[in-house]
Amino acid sequence: MKIAVPMPKYGIFKPAATLAEAQDTIQAHLSGVDALAYAAFIEGNSRAWVDAQNLLYHWNLDELERKSPVTDYSRLIRQVLRNRLLEVEERVRKERYTLACWNKFTPDIAIEELKAAALNHRIHSHPLLDHMSAEGLPPEAVQLFLDNYYVNNRVFHLHIAAQSLSAPFSMRAEMYKNLYDELGSGEPSEAHPLLFLRNYRTLHLPDTIIPLTGSVFLLNTKIYHTFLSGNVLQGVGGLGFLELAMPAQMEKIFAGLKKSNLPVKDLVFWEVHITLDKEHGESWFEEVRDLVRSREDAKALFEGGMSLLDARARFYDDVWGAVQEMIEPQQMSA
Ligand SMILES: [Fe+2]
Repeated sequence: MKIAVPMPKYGIFKPAATLAEAQDTIQAHLSGVDALAYAAFIEGNSRAWVDAQNLLYHWNLDELERKSPVTDYSRLIRQVLRNRLLEVEERVRKERYTLACWNKFTPDIAIEELKAAALNHRIHSHPLLDHMSAEGLPPEAVQLFLDNYYVNNRVFHLHIAAQSLSAPFSMRAEMYKNLYDELGSGEPSEAHPLLFLRNYRTLHLPDTIIPLTGSVFLLNTKIYHTFLSGNVLQGVGGLGFLELAMPAQMEKIFAGLKKSNLPVKDLVFWEVHITLDKEHGESWFEEVRDLVRSREDAKALFEGGMSLLDARARFYDDVWGAVQEMIEPQQMSA
């Protein structure tokens, strides 16, 4: 299955064979990419934001999946231009997420603040999931939901793998256990991306998915915190908050897809995650207690955690916007 994300004009350039060619291309694109970063992240221009997320998608996946060798000069161009976008996005993000306990920090107070932030996040009462679980969705809306969910689901295990490269040694056993679960606990056909595809058995399995920008943004945000930020605590916070919040979302989605008339036997992906993520999530605050030695540590966990829950909520927002357009004409004609 192909994920078709358009490549904005800023990302189209001739391959470079030498360092000099790479430098010329970087110079030629720099002011355009800088202007794009400013418009997207400082001014909040929505067209620029879509272009920036699409660019990051291509360049981030290139990095995560290692499709070109590190000696490739075109890769150098992509990395330099991507960094110009990330620098601005990172600055804005750092200002957005501040800890209330910054001036009265103790590890215990910080952990309590993290816990409250994760548990009170708006994702727990998102209208898309509330509507789904109460009413179900029409088939074309189920298709749109699944297609967009799959964009992230198909590579989720890679975020854990990527993060393990820089995680403290003491955390790795737990991460690989999680990864083992993701890949089917020794049974390859039970790997979660394959379990996910069972949702499609009574629907249409698309050849190509054209994702909403919210899905692309969520993927970019995961790659940033688990692989690019240079601070493993951001990834620990990010994946930790996601897992803590996941069982309740999975319960609603499971109920919503049943209400949408998908056969229960095809919904095993959601059922599995209701219990698995509860196990992963419950131990999380205990595991991180030893990692919070300073307020900077707590801020990194908080920033990664909140940023990823916000990105996931933004993904639901985009799906919900598109779903409402599908539902409303039907309800009006009813
Ligand atoms: Fe999973």
